[in-house]
Amino acid sequence: MTSFVPGTKLVIEEKVMINIGVLTSGRGTNLQAIIEAVKEGKIEGRISVAISDNRDAFALKRAKQNNIETKYINFKNFKNREDYDKKIVEYLKKKDVDLVVLAGYMRILGSYFIKMYKNRIMNIHPALLPSFPGLHAQRQAVEYGVKVSGCTVHFVDEGVDSGPIILQKAVEVKDDDTEELLAERILKEEHQIYPQAIQLFSQGRLIIKSRKVFIKKRSI
Ligand code: GRF
Repeated sequence: MTSFVPGTKLVIEEKVMINIGVLTSGRGTNLQAIIEAVKEGKIEGRISVAISDNRDAFALKRAKQNNIETKYINFKNFKNREDYDKKIVEYLKKKDVDLVVLAGYMRILGSYFIKMYKNRIMNIHPALLPSFPGLHAQRQAVEYGVKVSGCTVHFVDEGVDSGPIILQKAVEVKDDDTEELLAERILKEEHQIYPQAIQLFSQGRLIIKSRKVFIKKRSI
């Protein structure tokens, strides 16, 4: 059984602020939602760094506009995935990161990374896992003909989209939905539940027992 125990962190008005490290490869709308939630005090934490494998990721621009440190790490400069992951972990440790948030990060993390941040890496997936893991989840849902899909925030383990589930939100699939229309409606919900899950983590309220995540009630 594990839960995050806040350590010697910045304390503002008696609140422990966790350090969040975001890994991102693309447009960064989830990063933006997290940035807004931090600004509004809905997440007791701060984004210490946004790291990308893509120099041109729009997410990096969003981070810079919000005075968040950014780091581009080029995969091509490394022998293999483990060496690449080691570089990222080294950077996250340097920034004293407590929680790693994958926000549209297009690389699979290797076992070294997962071990170094066990139960401290989150991902968001645009389907109700365990349905439709992997790429093009919204397309998979439309093609399969499900009536309901949605999004899932989960901890990352060594499988693909297979880690313990933290929060899910259902979204109706309409008869005339395209992949794009469904993706747009799911994305709105992603922007709600990802910040919520991060806040639960920062409050130390996520308890993992084997593959189940329990949410502790708020202590008053
Ligand atoms: C989202 O659909 C998320 O569920 C998936 O990648 C996409 C990232 O979008 N993991 P954005 O970069 O946050 O806009």
